Amino acid sequence: ATVRIIGVPMDYGANRRGVDMGPSAIRYGGLADELEQAGVGPIDAGDVRVPRAEERDPDADPPRRGDAKFLREIEDVCTRLANRVAETLAAGEFPLVLGGDHSVAIGSMNGSSREANLGAIWFDAHADLNTPETSPSGNVHGMPLGALLGRDVFGEMPWAHAPAVREDAIAYVGLRSIDERERELVRNSEMTAFTMADIDERGMTAVVEDALAVATDGTDGVHVSLDLDWLDPSAAPGVGTPVRGGVTYREAHAALEAVSRRHDRDGVLRSMDVVEVNPILDERNETATLAAELTASAFGKRIL
Ligand code: ARG
Ligand code: MN
Ligand code: MN
Ligand code: MN
Repeated sequence: ATVRIIGVPMDYGANRRGVDMGPSAIRYGGLADELEQAGVGPIDAGDVRVPRAEERDPDADPPRRGDAKFLREIEDVCTRLANRVAETLAAGEFPLVLGGDHSVAIGSMNGSSREANLGAIWFDAHADLNTPETSPSGNVHGMPLGALLGRDVFGEMPWAHAPAVREDAIAYVGLRSIDERERELVRNSEMTAFTMADIDERGMTAVVEDALAVATDGTDGVHVSLDLDWLDPSAAPGVGTPVRGGVTYREAHAALEAVSRRHDRDGVLRSMDVVEVNPILDERNETATLAAELTASAFGKRIL
């Protein structure tokens, strides 16, 4: 299918630190060219409009709702993104969402799951399963899975009432940084968590094949959410929440190639987002360029 690129220049979920420039940086990093080399004809649909914090009415509510910063802004952007993603799928195209901070996944997955049972693979150093109640930071980019699963106060939000994703169809790959209370949330959930230790022990390809088995079991398609802080900071310095001990450049390509091999066999890939690229913190756009390359690997770019 044709890949439709949808940019979401939003950094509200990361408390405003520069990831709003991610979509531009990934485009300049050669995304369209890379996708063409993968044999995909991309269409760039531009960006979802994200109001700047500077345009806010100074008399409006404070930027914090409960213990989640900018939740109202994020809800608005994610609702519009979800509609764009659903329309893209209805037109027979593949939605590729460029973040933006990881809260954009609330919109991507909400839109992608409207007409399908969705599984998900979460390539990330973090679990992103907090809620306003458990979050140590108040940053919504640490809460997208909590939001999509309708945990705690998120159960009252519109996105939690849409069928988004079943817990037991979600697999983490590369988890290595988890908050104290979040650890219990993951342990008590039905999600499958492959940590860095699993990758060390079994190798990336075997782990990703298992993650694909989880995300395809009883579902109609898989959403891939790729947070660039999944990689080791030596390969991806341009992220706001780096964690050492991450996956290497080669492991990352191997992982997305495994996704693409499975997709070639039975067309499992339904939607994808690429998030948390922070150009302010990057070195010569290398993290954004890597994001473009890894996306091409997921869509079948090969050496020969
Ligand atoms: N667990 C931390 C928090 O909730 C960090 C989350 C980082 N998430 C991300 N998408 N980079 O604040
Ligand atoms: Mn994340
Ligand atoms: Mn569903
Ligand atoms: Mn992360």
